[in-house]
Amino acid sequence: MKRYKKGQQVYSLNHGWRFVEKDISVLPPTKQHDDVYGFSKAGAYRGPADANYDDADWEIVNLPHDWVTKHDFVEEGSPNQGYKERGIGWYRMRFELSEEDRNKQILLEFEGMSCDSQVYVNGSILKHNYSGYNSFCVDMTDMANFGVIPNTLAVRIDASAWEGWWYEGAGIYRNVWLVKKSEVHLAHDGIFIMPELEDNTTWKVHVSAEIENSFEYEHMVEVITCLYDQEGNLVGEAALTGKDIVCGYETATVTGEIYVNNPILWSVKQPYLYKAVTKLYKGNDCIDEVEEKIGFRTISIDAKDGFWLNGENIKLLGFCNHQDHAGIGVAVPYSIKEYRVRLLQELGANAYRCAHNPDPEILDICDELGVMVMVENRTYSSSEETLREVEGIVRQSRNHPCVILYSVFNEEPLQGTHKGRRMAGALQAAVRRIDDTRPVMGAFNGGYMEEEGASTILDVTGINYNPGRYDEFHKKYPDTPLIGTETASAFMVRGEYETDYSKNLINSYDDECALWGNTISEAWKMVVERPFVAGAFVWTGFDYRGEPTPFTWPSVGTFFGTYDSCGFEKDACYFYKAYWKQEPIVHIISPWSEGHETGTQIRIKVVTNCEEVALLVNDRIIDRKPADPINHVEFTASYEEGEIKAIGYRNGEIVANDYQLTAGKPASLEVSLSKETLVTDGFDAVAVNVTLIDQNGTAIPNADHTLTFEVGNGTILGVGNGDPNSHEDDVTNKRKLFHGKAQAIIAPIDKGSVVVKVSANELDLQTEVMIPVREVESFSYVEPVEERVIDNWRMYYQLFDEMPNPNPKVDKNDMNSFEPIAFNGAPQTQLTDQLHKYALYRCVANLGEAKENRYLYISDIKGYAWIYLNGELLASRTDSFGGHMIIDLPKEVKGNQVLTIIIHNENEEWPQAGICSPVVMKEL
Ligand code: GAL
Repeated sequence: MKRYKKGQQVYSLNHGWRFVEKDISVLPPTKQHDDVYGFSKAGAYRGPADANYDDADWEIVNLPHDWVTKHDFVEEGSPNQGYKERGIGWYRMRFELSEEDRNKQILLEFEGMSCDSQVYVNGSILKHNYSGYNSFCVDMTDMANFGVIPNTLAVRIDASAWEGWWYEGAGIYRNVWLVKKSEVHLAHDGIFIMPELEDNTTWKVHVSAEIENSFEYEHMVEVITCLYDQEGNLVGEAALTGKDIVCGYETATVTGEIYVNNPILWSVKQPYLYKAVTKLYKGNDCIDEVEEKIGFRTISIDAKDGFWLNGENIKLLGFCNHQDHAGIGVAVPYSIKEYRVRLLQELGANAYRCAHNPDPEILDICDELGVMVMVENRTYSSSEETLREVEGIVRQSRNHPCVILYSVFNEEPLQGTHKGRRMAGALQAAVRRIDDTRPVMGAFNGGYMEEEGASTILDVTGINYNPGRYDEFHKKYPDTPLIGTETASAFMVRGEYETDYSKNLINSYDDECALWGNTISEAWKMVVERPFVAGAFVWTGFDYRGEPTPFTWPSVGTFFGTYDSCGFEKDACYFYKAYWKQEPIVHIISPWSEGHETGTQIRIKVVTNCEEVALLVNDRIIDRKPADPINHVEFTASYEEGEIKAIGYRNGEIVANDYQLTAGKPASLEVSLSKETLVTDGFDAVAVNVTLIDQNGTAIPNADHTLTFEVGNGTILGVGNGDPNSHEDDVTNKRKLFHGKAQAIIAPIDKGSVVVKVSANELDLQTEVMIPVREVESFSYVEPVEERVIDNWRMYYQLFDEMPNPNPKVDKNDMNSFEPIAFNGAPQTQLTDQLHKYALYRCVANLGEAKENRYLYISDIKGYAWIYLNGELLASRTDSFGGHMIIDLPKEVKGNQVLTIIIHNENEEWPQAGICSPVVMKEL
């Protein structure tokens, strides 16, 4: 979202799509000669790809959109996809381009669609994209309609198969942009800016820019890149050289260098970004401009000491994450993604693995927040298609200072084989062709010891789980850097303190993990004790839908997350805070607040990075013990109503504490927000987090009352509560509390305030919050055109001297008596200066459902005119030569019908005649 600069010719295509969840053929209705012949031509796809298609009963949706969220959970579904079925869907959008756009390059950028997608523009297929995770650009310039005829964009998405073993959603789940560029322009993702440290203080910033000429004439151009700091001061500039005349249809690259002394570095503590503005000039006119955020930092990784950022040896403290969030599936607004990254940072994380696919918005967010990213490719293949996809991923990622690693695969059965090595080599080469400044790696679950396997060709080896083999690998390959690309896979359900396999529940003491995994503590010990292991990417930061290991139905989400699927803290969060943060942490894990019979023995684990911990019950010291920095400390205490408190000591001094109180009766609903104010840019949303609390502010531990959300000036995108076993609806305004908490994700509609009223009717409790919405300058949105244009018109190849038969016999194999014609603003040249002649036009139009109050509208028709439906006269105009016509349609007509128009040129003062504007069908 942040990649485009407002004010350029960039328009959001996120609003007003028509959507239907079913498959529809793009083939013509018959296999007769006329249909077969017609279909074999450019622009001839039928069905939804055809301008004339009737989509009036399709749903209107905005992006990002994941159609799976509205489905029910069904037991016959796949556990991997969270027991929701996927399938096939179509999207359509009709929009206009102006006459002034005629000499521009017109691009459609799709940031991501799940999964296999085909993009049709004005009846031609312009792209078949196979992966649901890469972004791509469609150049629609050649097929575009300018002026009065709208453009028909149709997208078919086939999500019946899967690319991953987790919830993938379905639909246009990321942004879509319409970009207009000058004839000669800076190519999409064609700018690469990479600072390199020359000596202690001087940096050489390498700049290269691709100039693309999409039209036939050559242009003389100049490219200048300027670098600005955050105050807007110019810190350097370069005129790029290598080519000044770009021929028609040529792509040329120009390069240059900018020297900068002592820049402010980008780091995890201070993620300082500079702005690089690259301008393309023709003479004195700037005809294109691209802005990139860049950062000055050095990275390196070695087999002995691991990872280095700006010369400082730091461990990569990361989480792996899938894309989905509670209630909204994979259609996650930018600000919710940002919220999630911030939550991970609160645990001390400095790294993020986009598992197992790229996500461009995460890169913008991590640049800003100072989080290092492993960008991951989805498809393991060295097919031409995949290599091109990988190049696209790297072009999109390479200017981001947060990107430190490219991973070309995850857990591939061929990883340890000769074939796997060849593929890894080809993928690594594809990455390096575009960007050779970051190491390339794979995430292995075996095969890394094999000399003929991929680990001996890639820069870095990632090992998923199996930390017991880190040493063995390091011994055999002492020069290959190593990262724990997946660690832990520990299980925990928020708010549960007893494991019950019969109810698919797992406690929060860090007792359990996947068979192939480790508990949080075991996994961290193996990494922290080995300087040569550059870091750990914990599986996972957040629970995600699907893969409900170790259970199946009725579980529909994971148990791996450190946070639950809403981003509510599990006790797991505190393990990482204790391991990764310097500040003293003390956190009690126990069900004390639930209330128990007096004298019940309660297990209490205190997670801490302090040296000693004392436990107090109602202010009486029960015990004081040294704490293990990995395994922490455990106590048992006899329950009594009131407070337990844990006090942490360093050097004998109290440095931190935590307490829990027996919860009382529900007293109120406490609301916290993921952000305090919203903006009207169309990309914003807020997570409204609700906790049921007693009069002391203690969360009511086992509360499962239903909340109702009523929202003014906002739209509920989805609701959740983090329960991996819940089958409640995602897209609704009601949700049960799970261990006292639930969440709604809400997008603002307009400036002013979003008002959210939350009620727990069973308890007669309610609360209201107002979230201010600030008006901001935003992208323009493409306005969808609703009216249906009847096209596919043909005109008889010669004019008539007499009024022709309006119902001529047209043989199925006759492709030449009528020539194709479009009504796009001008009269037909065939009729110019042809006084007293008649022209005959014909088309087979899809008139859709039988309905009252429909009419055809032609805004500009010159000459006398007669309009026929299946040879029957519908309307005529013989009293004037110009202006519009309105033709009522009989209410019973439907589907495909033959329309005929006869035009007579009879005006001596007016040499021109014909149909000058599209024929559109409207409703009263
Ligand atoms: C790994 C895999 C992940 C996830 C994880 C669960 O094998 O790469 O995608 O399935 O296991 O433990």
